[in-house]
Amino acid sequence: MESWIWWFLLCWHLLILYFSPSHSLCHPHDSFALLQFKNSFTIKTSYHNYYCHPGYSKTTTWENGTDCCSWPGVTCHHISGHVTELDLTCSGLTGKIHPNSMLFQLSHLQSLNLAFNDFNQPQLSSLFGGFLSLTHLNLSGSNFEGEIPSQISHLSKLASLDFSSTNSIYPLKWEEDTWKRLLQNATVLRELDLAETDMSSISIRTLNMSSCFVTLTLRENWPRGNLTDDILCLPNLQHLYLSENWDLQGQLPESLHLSYNKLQGNKSESIFSFLNLTLLDLSSNNLSGSVNFPLFSRLQNLDSLYLSQNDQLSLNFKSSVKHSFPSLRSLDLSSAIVNCSFMNGDVFAGGTQTNCCKLKE
Ligand SMILES: *[C@@H]1O[C@H](CO)[C@@H](O)[C@H](O)[C@H]1NC(C)=O
Ligand SMILES: *[C@@H]1O[C@H](CO)[C@@H](O)[C@H](O)[C@H]1NC(C)=O
Ligand SMILES: *[C@@H]1O[C@H](CO)[C@@H](O)[C@H](O)[C@H]1NC(C)=O
Ligand SMILES: *[C@@H]1O[C@H](CO)[C@@H](O)[C@H](O)[C@H]1NC(C)=O
Ligand SMILES: *[C@@H]1O[C@H](CO)[C@@H](O)[C@H](O)[C@H]1NC(C)=O
Ligand SMILES: *[C@@H]1O[C@H](CO)[C@@H](O)[C@H](O)[C@H]1NC(C)=O
Ligand SMILES: *[C@@H]1O[C@H](CO)[C@@H](O)[C@H](O)[C@H]1NC(C)=O
Ligand SMILES: *[C@@H]1O[C@H](CO)[C@@H](O)[C@H](O)[C@H]1NC(C)=O
Ligand SMILES: *[C@@H]1O[C@H](CO)[C@@H](O)[C@H](O)[C@H]1NC(C)=O
Repeated sequence: MESWIWWFLLCWHLLILYFSPSHSLCHPHDSFALLQFKNSFTIKTSYHNYYCHPGYSKTTTWENGTDCCSWPGVTCHHISGHVTELDLTCSGLTGKIHPNSMLFQLSHLQSLNLAFNDFNQPQLSSLFGGFLSLTHLNLSGSNFEGEIPSQISHLSKLASLDFSSTNSIYPLKWEEDTWKRLLQNATVLRELDLAETDMSSISIRTLNMSSCFVTLTLRENWPRGNLTDDILCLPNLQHLYLSENWDLQGQLPESLHLSYNKLQGNKSESIFSFLNLTLLDLSSNNLSGSVNFPLFSRLQNLDSLYLSQNDQLSLNFKSSVKHSFPSLRSLDLSSAIVNCSFMNGDVFAGGTQTNCCKLKE
């Protein structure tokens, strides 16, 4: 009986040791690697950058003999003590990452953020493709240049990738093959920021965007070819940034069919920038909030507008100026909440002379 109690106490004790927060003592190998990595750079905290507070580096308090899991920017696995996340954003690291860098010894990394440092690197090392557990890789604004190594396509677990604005003179350059293979492999990629990377060797036909993207930034790097619908209609896309693509050509779509989706919430102003739309079908979505109906008059070519079956959507007709819908022929607002409280002579020309109460039908 007594020995049973002893066993119980022993197990209890081990459990507490194992799961107590203090258990994440840094793995000595990773601690060594981090210090060597730090020591391979000059730390220039005067490095001026729009995004960074000058005078600060996360690595200044990294010291040999202390637990690396408590160092700024470092996160460890709570049992093994291996470094799983490294975020050295704005740490003034200045110098090159050599192929023998101890960084590449941190094989348990799941998240690596080296944004806004100055690696002044003529070529992004192919060894970055060896971090097979990576779910997040962020090299934004960190002065890498040259061709993106094909090994990047091995990062099959990536959920987010940020290669934006690394070097404005010699940007990181995609080869079509690398791009294709990355998209094939990284099937859970949701967030992709490629602003200012060079995509000139990728033709729009082979861009083959993943339908998983939630955020896509192709600022200042439009690939060869005109804007096509497959980008605008990615089913999960919530944020699309295409600004400053000076050579981007192509008509914004004239008709946008988005019915029977689960579009939610605030369809904000963005839809009103498709000035040439002739058809806009947002029916049977989950739009909500209150929309000033006169805004749609910006779309002067609009022939058909379908907002039906969005029963959380309230359409507000109050307006102090006259709005015209010269081309509108077909309008379906059924099951949306039409706010009849006030209507001030909106003119539906082109054959559809109507009024609020008729709309309700
Ligand atoms: C840390 O200190 C130990 C001895 O205390 C030494 O053997 C080791 O080389 C040091 N590591 C680094 C990266 O300086
Ligand atoms: C996909 O990634 C695996 C390793 O994660 C790699 O072995 C394979 O070559 C990659 N496939 C392509 C098409 O790049
Ligand atoms: C990359 O890191 C920078 C700096 O921490 C951050 O502002 C940016 O949002 C990150 N990018 C992604 C895609 O998370
Ligand atoms: C586009 O991607 C899908 C899935 O990643 C793949 O099956 C298809 O072959 C690709 N198409 C082209 C034209 O590369
Ligand atoms: C791109 O669009 C422009 C203008 O819309 C057009 O003149 C040109 O032929 C298009 N190019 C291609 C490759 O489709
Ligand atoms: C709308 O079409 C006109 C002429 O067809 C064109 O000049 C204009 O750039 C288009 N506007 C947009 C926002 O696509
Ligand atoms: C909806 O968009 C408007 C204007 O763009 C903004 O003021 C408002 O906060 C947004 N509401 C939500 C819930 O995002
Ligand atoms: C519709 O949106 C509401 C919040 O606005 C949400 O609670 C609900 O789950 C959504 N329904 C569907 C079918 O997506
Ligand atoms: C209906 O319109 C009136 C007057 O413009 C406004 O006060 C009210 O909040 C609106 N109701 C809804 C549900 O948007």
